[in-house]
Amino acid sequence: MSADPDAPSAPSAPRPVTPMGILVGKLADLVDLLDGPDRDDAAVRRGIRDAYDLAAGLDPYLGRCTTPESSALRSRAAATAAHDWSRHAGSGGAAPLEQEMLSGHVEGQLLKMLVHATRARRVLEVGMFTGYSALAMAEALPEDGRVVACEVDAHAAEFAERCFRATDRGHRIDIHVGPAAATLAELATVGEVFDLVFIDADKGGYLGYVTAVLDDGLLAPHGLICVDNTLMQGQPWTCDEPAANGVAIAAFNEAVATDPRVEQVVIPLRDGLTLIRRVDRP
Ligand SMILES: C[S@@+](CC[C@H](N)C(=O)[O-])C[C@H]1O[C@@H](n2cnc3c(N)ncnc32)[C@H](O)[C@@H]1O
Repeated sequence: MSADPDAPSAPSAPRPVTPMGILVGKLADLVDLLDGPDRDDAAVRRGIRDAYDLAAGLDPYLGRCTTPESSALRSRAAATAAHDWSRHAGSGGAAPLEQEMLSGHVEGQLLKMLVHATRARRVLEVGMFTGYSALAMAEALPEDGRVVACEVDAHAAEFAERCFRATDRGHRIDIHVGPAAATLAELATVGEVFDLVFIDADKGGYLGYVTAVLDDGLLAPHGLICVDNTLMQGQPWTCDEPAANGVAIAAFNEAVATDPRVEQVVIPLRDGLTLIRRVDRP
C-alpha cells in the first residue's frame, strides 16, 4: 500500500536555536555517548570541549556587546573587589558580605536601560551593598530624579556613601540604613511612590518587600518591580534539598506566578531577574 501524500506528517521536535538550548542538546548527546554501548572517548572529549566553549563564552560575549560601564561604575566594582569583606561579618542579621553580591556591568546597564525606558524619576532599591546598582540607576535619572536605597549593613552603607560623594551622580542617592521592611513602612507612611523598584536583598524577605510595595501604595500605577536572583543558581528546579535561599526563591516565584494582580517575566540574565508589573488597579 502506498503512503497517502496528503496525510499530515508527524511533528518533528523543535530544533534548539538558543545558546542554552544548544548546550542542552550537546550535553544530551554526551550523556548518550557515555551511556551507549560503543563509547567513543574522542567524541566525548570533543563534545565536552564544545559544550564548555559555548557556556564559558556567553557572559564575556554579553559583556563585549553591552555598552561599557562608566568610569565611576568601573571604579565602584574595582573598590568592592579590592576590599577584604571576610574581615566584616555583616550586620543586622544579614548574610556575610562578599564581593560577588555586586550586580555588575551587564545587569547594571540593563537597570539603566529600564530607568530610561520607564522614564522613572523615583527609584527604590532594597539591598544596596556598595552602591553599584544604585549608581547605575542614578546615572540614568533626570537631574531631579532620586534613588532611595535601603541597606541594613552600616559598613556597606558608609563604603557606598564615600564613593557617591566622589561621583557627579551620587547626590541623587538617599541611603536609608536599617532593615528594609521598616524603611518601606516609613516610606509608605510619608506617601512615597516609586516608578521603579529594584529588590536585591535577603531572599527570605522578597515576598514581604513585593507585598509591601504592592499593598502599601509604594508603586506608581505604571511602576515596574525588578527582582534579582530569581533563578537562585538553578536550585528551584535542580535540587532535592535546596538551601534556604533556594527554598525562599522557589516559594517567591510560585507566589508571584499565582498572584492575579501582576504580570511577570523571568529574564535569565546572570542569576535571573524577574520584571513585575501590576495589572489590576488598587
Ligand atoms: C546582593 S547585595 C546587593 C547588591 C547591590 N544591589 C548591587 O547590585 O551592587 C544584598 C545587600 O542587601 C543587604 N541586606 C540584606 N538584608 C537586608 C535587609 N533586611 N534590609 C536591607 N538590606 C539588606 C545586604 O547587607 C547586602 O548589602
